Amino acid sequence: MKAFVCTEYGLPEVMQLREIEKPTPKGNEVLIRVYATTVTSADSRIRKADPFPVRFFYGLLRPKKNTVLGCELAGEIEAVGKNVTLFKAGDRVFGGTGMGFGGNAEYVCLPEEGAIAIKPVNIPYEEAAALTFGATTSLIFLRDKGNIQSGQKVLIYGASGALGTAAVQLAKYFGAEVTGVCSTANLGLVKSLGADETIDYTKEDFTKSGKSYDIVFDTVGKSPFSGCLRSLKHNGIYLRAVHIDLYSIFRGLWASATSSKKVIGGVAMERAEDLRFLASLVEAGAFKPVIDRRYPFEQIAEAHRYVDTGHKQGNVVIALFN
Ligand SMILES: NC(=O)c1ccc[n+]([C@@H]2O[C@H](COP(=O)([O-])OP(=O)(O)OC[C@H]3O[C@@H](n4cnc5c(N)ncnc54)[C@H](OP(=O)(O)O)[C@@H]3O)[C@@H](O)[C@H]2O)c1
Repeated sequence: MKAFVCTEYGLPEVMQLREIEKPTPKGNEVLIRVYATTVTSADSRIRKADPFPVRFFYGLLRPKKNTVLGCELAGEIEAVGKNVTLFKAGDRVFGGTGMGFGGNAEYVCLPEEGAIAIKPVNIPYEEAAALTFGATTSLIFLRDKGNIQSGQKVLIYGASGALGTAAVQLAKYFGAEVTGVCSTANLGLVKSLGADETIDYTKEDFTKSGKSYDIVFDTVGKSPFSGCLRSLKHNGIYLRAVHIDLYSIFRGLWASATSSKKVIGGVAMERAEDLRFLASLVEAGAFKPVIDRRYPFEQIAEAHRYVDTGHKQGNVVIALFN
């Protein structure tokens, strides 16, 4: 089968189209023929080995394992292992591969208990492929870590990316009053997703507006730490999807221990139940994955180049078998 293999750490050109062995499902696995996949900020990070500790997991000098990137996909189940009971051949599914990656290929095997769910009937594979990474992360941050409640004032910082476009829609679904922070070009998009208010970060520092929020969710790791803490109400929560440098982690722990406010980071693990929840929202018309650009499979390096800019709107999709 064809797959894009990340041969070195570096520029998008390290992504090479190769013929590799088609996987065979183990007893508890399903074999998915991939119709659409994505290039996410996580793929970009692994390819660049950014941050450096990526190398401890994927290979010190060059990627040694999991060299096929791609952490979300949609497609059709072609075969199932002998112990599989949840899915059958012919099922149209979407899901995530987690830290194992491997989605940028014609076929992928996933355990039936993994992050897989039946594709919503009302969106094409290309949109379903973009329903896992940003949406489950924002769902877990807002609902599970932030305990978002109806009527709360919630600010989404970086409201136009994969996490951000999902976060705005989910926060609205949970009944929050939503403020989205993005650049001038994305104000219309964020408003169209349901944000009650938008703030252009190139023109205005929201932390100086005097307004306060129950939750500030920084999806991109670029919000001012002290300003965000100041902008929280009593018992407010500062959610940080990018909370990886030791200084921030220490500041977060200190702030959480010495004030009524909480700083919460960590990793969001994709789960099938969350995918089923998101699929139900899509089918109810309450959520729609935002697709920025679509690329054919052969142009994955181009897609990486665009994702590397750090300014995509929502998701970048890769189409296979078209
Ligand atoms: N903790 C976890 O479990 C977890 C899971 C998934 C992802 N992540 C991390 O979350 C981060 C975001 O992921 P993503 O896929 O959503 O990224 P993304 O789609 O690449 O984000 C792009 C968006 O970021 C916005 N942006 C860039 N600079 C900004 C700034 N200074 N202020 C406000 N917005 C800015 C851009 O908006 P403008 O063009 O308007 O500037 C753009 O729309 C990544 O670093 C990823 O590694 C964490």
